[in-house]
Amino acid sequence: MTAARGTAAGEAAARGTSAKETAVYTHGHHESVLRSHRWRTAENSAAYLIGELRPGMRVLDVGCGPGTITADLAERVAPDGRVTAVDAAEDVLEQARAYAAERGLGDSVSFATADVHALDFPDDSFDVVHAHQVLQHVGDPVRALREMRRVCRPGGIVAARDADYAAMTWYPASPGLDDWLGLYRRVARANGGEPDAGRHLRAWARQAGFTDVTSSATAWCFATPEEIAWWSTLWADRTQASAYAATGGGHTTPARLAAVAEAWHAWGADPDAWFSVLNAEILCRV
Ligand SMILES: C[S@@+](CC[C@H](N)C(=O)[O-])C[C@H]1O[C@@H](n2cnc3c(N)ncnc32)[C@H](O)[C@@H]1O
Repeated sequence: MTAARGTAAGEAAARGTSAKETAVYTHGHHESVLRSHRWRTAENSAAYLIGELRPGMRVLDVGCGPGTITADLAERVAPDGRVTAVDAAEDVLEQARAYAAERGLGDSVSFATADVHALDFPDDSFDVVHAHQVLQHVGDPVRALREMRRVCRPGGIVAARDADYAAMTWYPASPGLDDWLGLYRRVARANGGEPDAGRHLRAWARQAGFTDVTSSATAWCFATPEEIAWWSTLWADRTQASAYAATGGGHTTPARLAAVAEAWHAWGADPDAWFSVLNAEILCRV
């Protein structure tokens, strides 16, 4: 299914893209989703890119969400650098703007709505074009990477990092969490995305025409009591209250969703609980 975001077919036609390139953003921006996105920093989510950043650079952050990574990138290219942050959803950009203001970033960061498949910037506009946990949600990730390359100057860098859901692993075993993973992967695919994006990133970059691609992988690991409580509660809440819960309802029953949420709580109460999220990364030289 390539279901449209709002009137995406019409919007896509107006942009010169096809509805095939649109996908429904599986998570949406419910508070339970943003609780996990706001935890992200350049250090825990873009370490593979940090060494490439220099003061004065022009950075495009695609699919910026609530903008915590965006703000860190802006500090890394200060004092003269600029970050332009775009997202398909206007509601989350409001929150990202407020966060950047709280951080006192002034006009070193600006925000706009945009679809990564058809960016409204001239060729060669940026030194670095970055997308964190975005390509897994788009209808045509190869076209997205081509578009990211188009707006990046020759010699610049296109950087992307995505989780690979099938490679997520945890302890102790839980049939309810197995159910969660199977359901999430079905829903994400039905929405037009690729939940196991991590393993595809290198191939997508090569299909997009990049010849200089550096691949790496890093994991998030949640193991302290605080981390486990945070991760298990936010997924229990996401399973019941986020956009994923709403679309998930079309693929399972409310009772099964409730059982998955309960499984997250039960798993999170185990003092031995441990969870790891594998993330693949690509640095593509333009
Ligand atoms: C998982 S969130 C990641 C947010 C942020 N990069 C982070 O890691 O905290 C993915 C974001 O991509 C945005 N998104 C989804 N499809 C998009 C598209 N086609 N173009 C631009 N942004 C898109 C969503 O609205 C969402 O805010």
